[in-house]
Amino acid sequence: VAALNAGHTAPEPGARRPALVFIGFMGAGKTAAAAAAREAGIEAIEADELLEGELGMSIAAFFGRRGEEEFRSLEAAEVAELLERAEGGVIALGGGAGCSERVQRALARHVVVWLEVSAEEAWRRVEGSDRPLARDRHRFEVLHAEREPVYAQLADAAVPSGDRETVSRALPALRALLDLPPGTRMTWARSESGEYPVYVGNGILPAGRWPVEGRRFCVTDATVGRLYAGLVEPLAGSVDVEPGERAKTLAQVERVLRELARLGMSRDDHLVALGGGVVGDLAGFCASTYQRGVRVVQVPTTLLAQVDSAYGGKTGVDLPEAKNYVGAYHLPSAVLADTAILATLPREEVAAGWVEVVKTALIAGGGLWRRVRTMERPDPAALGDVIEAAGDYRRYRHGEAVGLGLLAALRLSGADELRAEVAELLHREGLPTALDPAVETEAVLEAIERDKKRSGDAVRFVLLERPGEPVPGQRVEPEAVRAAVAELVSAERARAG
Ligand SMILES: NC(=O)c1ccc[n+]([C@@H]2O[C@H](COP(=O)([O-])OP(=O)(O)OC[C@H]3O[C@@H](n4cnc5c(N)ncnc54)[C@H](O)[C@@H]3O)[C@@H](O)[C@H]2O)c1
Repeated sequence: VAALNAGHTAPEPGARRPALVFIGFMGAGKTAAAAAAREAGIEAIEADELLEGELGMSIAAFFGRRGEEEFRSLEAAEVAELLERAEGGVIALGGGAGCSERVQRALARHVVVWLEVSAEEAWRRVEGSDRPLARDRHRFEVLHAEREPVYAQLADAAVPSGDRETVSRALPALRALLDLPPGTRMTWARSESGEYPVYVGNGILPAGRWPVEGRRFCVTDATVGRLYAGLVEPLAGSVDVEPGERAKTLAQVERVLRELARLGMSRDDHLVALGGGVVGDLAGFCASTYQRGVRVVQVPTTLLAQVDSAYGGKTGVDLPEAKNYVGAYHLPSAVLADTAILATLPREEVAAGWVEVVKTALIAGGGLWRRVRTMERPDPAALGDVIEAAGDYRRYRHGEAVGLGLLAALRLSGADELRAEVAELLHREGLPTALDPAVETEAVLEAIERDKKRSGDAVRFVLLERPGEPVPGQRVEPEAVRAAVAELVSAERARAG
C-alpha cells in the first residue's frame, strides 16, 4: 500500500481543471484511447498529431532528416506547453514524451493513465510500421524495459492495453479519479472472467464517489461496522457478523442471506463487503449465491485484505473439516481500498498483512522487492493454507501462516540466504518464524495430502530461487517437504529451549 503513492498533486484554488493524460509505449493504444474519449463526447488531443502539424512533416520523416535528439527537445517543449495550458479533457502523449523532466513536472497536476502493454504485444502491433524506433526488435525490447519504470512512476492509473472498447469501459472509472483525493491510484483489473476498477488511496471513502449504481446493502463485522459503516452510506440495509474467522461458516451464510431477503434486497441492488478478509470472503460468497448472484463492492479494511484477499473474486467459507472448502469465484464490481482506515487496525493485524506484502514483493521482484526489503517499517505461499489448517486454523492468523509457509517454500527452493533475509523481515514485525510444536509435523503433512493443489501422487509447489522469478507447478519429494516442515518445528524448540 505504501508503495502506491505517486499521485497527482492537489489543485490550487481557481487553478485549471486537470486533464486525463494517456501515456504508454508504442502500440499501447493511445490513439484508440483518444478515439474512445471522443466517442464519449470528451475533447481529446493527440500530442503526436499536434507535433506533426508544427513540424510540417511526419515524425518518421523528421527523425530521418534531423535525428532523434532534435525531435526530443522540440517534443518536450511542445508537450509541456500543451499540458500547462490544458483545461480538462483528454490528452494522449507519444511514447517518449514522458521521459522529459519538463513534461514530468507539467504532468503533476493531471491524472495520468498508463496503458500497459507487453513488449511482445507492442511489437506485434507496430512491426513493419514506419515508426523509426520499431525497426530492430532487440532495440525495441531494450527501450520497452527502460521506459516501463518511467511510466509506472508517473501513473495515477494503469489500464492493461486492449482495444478501444477496453478504454471505453474503463473511462467512467478513470474520470472518477478527477474527483478523488490527490494521490489516489486506480488499476483496471482484468481477467478472463471480467474486469473492474480498483482504487487505492487515503480518504477515498469520505469523497463519496461510489463506483456502481443501485441500492447498497452492507455486510460487515461488528467492530468494523461500528467504526466505518458511516463511510459507505447511504445504505438500504446492513447485516453484522461477529469479528474473526468464526464468522466464516455456512450457518452465517444462511443467516446473512435470510436477513438480506427480509430487508428486501433485489437483483438490481448490490452488496458492500466492509471488513477484512473474513467479511470479504463471506459477503462475496453471499453475493455469488443470493438470487443466483448479485454485484459486490469490496471495501477491504485490513492490510491483508487491501493487499490480497479483496481481489480476484475468490470467495467462500470454512467447513469444520477444512478451511475455505466451500466457495465460488465471484469478481467484485469494484474494490475501494481506503488506507486511512488502517489507522485503527491493531498492530498484530498490521503485521499479519505485512506478510502478504513480503510475499507479493518476492513474487514480483524488481522495484517492489527492493522497496520492501529496505522499508523501515510496514506502514509465494505454498504451505500457508495447509499450516493454517493443521493448526486448527485459529492458532495462527492467515498472514502469520502465510509467513511460515513462505519460509518452508524458500527452504524447498534451496534459497537459503533469501530465507534468512525473509525470516528477519518477519521477525522484526513480531511474526512467528517457527512452528508451534503443538502443531504436529504429521498433521501438516496430512493437510498437504488433502490440499486442493494435489495432483496425482505428488503435491505441486510454487518455488522461488530469486525475487521476481517464481516457478509454479514444481513437484517436490515428500521427504523434502517433511524436512522443511520439521525445520520450522525444530526452530521453535531451539528457541524455547
Ligand atoms: N479470498 C482470498 O483470496 C483470500 C486471500 C487471503 C486470505 N483470505 C482470508 O482472509 C481471512 C483473514 O482476513 P483478515 O486477516 O483481514 O482477518 P479479519 O477479517 O478477521 O480481520 C481481522 C480483525 O481485524 C478487525 N478489523 C478489520 N479492519 C479493522 C480496522 N480498520 N480497524 C480495526 N479493526 C479492524 C476485524 O474486526 C477482525 O477482528 C481468512 O479467512 C483467509 O482465509 C482470503
